[in-house]
Amino acid sequence: MDSMTFVLFGATGDLAKRKIFPALYHLFLDQKMPHSFSIIGLGRREWSDDEFQTHVEHSLKTFSTRFIHDRSKLEQFLRAFRYSPLDVTNMDGYKKLLEIVQQREKELNIPENRMFYLSVAPEFFDVITSNIKESGLGSTKGWKRLIIEKPFGHDLKSAQDLNEKLSQAFEEDEIYRVDHYLGKPMVQNLEALKFANPVFQALWNNQHIANVQITASETVGVEERAGYYDRAGSIRDMFQNHMLQLLMMTAMHVPKRISSQDIRNEKRKIMESLRLLQKEEVGLHVVRGQYGPGEIDGKSVVGYKEEPGVDASSTTDTFVAARLWIDDEFWSGVPFYIRTGKRMKEKSTRIVIEFKNPLKEWYFPKNEKTAPNLLVIEINPNEGVSLQFNSKNVLNDGKMETVHMRVATSQKNVPEAYELLIFDALRGDSTFFAHWKEVELSWKWIQPVLEAFEENLLPLHTYRSGSMGPEASHQLLEEDGFHWW
Ligand code: BG6
Repeated sequence: MDSMTFVLFGATGDLAKRKIFPALYHLFLDQKMPHSFSIIGLGRREWSDDEFQTHVEHSLKTFSTRFIHDRSKLEQFLRAFRYSPLDVTNMDGYKKLLEIVQQREKELNIPENRMFYLSVAPEFFDVITSNIKESGLGSTKGWKRLIIEKPFGHDLKSAQDLNEKLSQAFEEDEIYRVDHYLGKPMVQNLEALKFANPVFQALWNNQHIANVQITASETVGVEERAGYYDRAGSIRDMFQNHMLQLLMMTAMHVPKRISSQDIRNEKRKIMESLRLLQKEEVGLHVVRGQYGPGEIDGKSVVGYKEEPGVDASSTTDTFVAARLWIDDEFWSGVPFYIRTGKRMKEKSTRIVIEFKNPLKEWYFPKNEKTAPNLLVIEINPNEGVSLQFNSKNVLNDGKMETVHMRVATSQKNVPEAYELLIFDALRGDSTFFAHWKEVELSWKWIQPVLEAFEENLLPLHTYRSGSMGPEASHQLLEEDGFHWW
């Protein structure tokens, strides 16, 4: 792996402390960092290098899941860190930053490979990238890459504007858009599950699949993020990015080659085939909800409108369920149901594939109940795959019974999403990052939904905290003769 300089904007922030430093540290322990590297933290605070290194050390001790009490190893890691205060809007600061970067490149005798990680609020993406360009930081003899995190825009137009600006400083293949769901080991495993197993591959189409259900339910509420969340809602916070990425990963067809470009092309094709809704018909296929008071794990919790920082008349969605159609030869006629919400009964991210049962009519004697075959891919908090099928129970007069076969793929010390993603970015592998086309097409699907929400064209259902969402979300599937698994 190429030696490089990792320039971290927002180094004093929460994400850096909780995720980025531990991820870099774990990569270092696993010898997955380049032989020589330098990490330069930037933030508004006036810290010295020493203060910054102490902060990093503290964050590792608090948030690393496999901290090792080995002083010399730790010091070796911390020695790579430097800090420089920066007002991101002030060009002079970037000139100084360039000097620091160049000086470190000289000291370590490493090429001008520069990774810029923007762990800052999205309103700064534009000014930072343009200053990187103007200051000369981006004119390197080696490679330059940019890592950014959602939200990529607030709607279709703002996402396009943002991308336009980013693309003035970075090429598309230099931009690594983090969607941390793509870093989840089980999401990365979907590809293998489908393409490396002829049994699943053969069945992965509308001849055999009755419907697909993608759920991401959370028990947490809005937490301390009302300022952001109340403007975003579940549709922007989860649906536009994570949920549609899960849909793409589930529905994509086998690429000609397993390469980053081909995989992303296949994902894009799914989005191009996703049927767009007219604003007026959104209410037929989309359900929105907001949590009311209720109980989570035996404790009473307040409703969304009573949460600190939320306006008592807020109409923000904390739950969205939708029925989507992919109009291509493999999926036409198969509904994809997606739901996600806060303050639901359980924390669970999973994909359920419900298979058709063409034998049902003629094989089974009347009164014998059989259940559909289900393939359940559990992503979070447990990781595993299970298959539901029917079997006779000899101890019960040979009656049919539903049985499950489950493989737990959870292991100890599984790398976290950030670890896998940063490692990929360092290697220049963009497979599990969102391509601009995927992001744009996602916003295209979302846009009429946003407008319908805005114009109140569909009801906002209140659901009880601790439930699985509003009744209307169950009705959505019942209309098609299905139910949520
Ligand atoms: C984030 C959202 O992207 O994903 C949060 O902003 C949400 O609101 C989180 O809680 C869920 O992530 P995970 O990994 O816990 O499923």
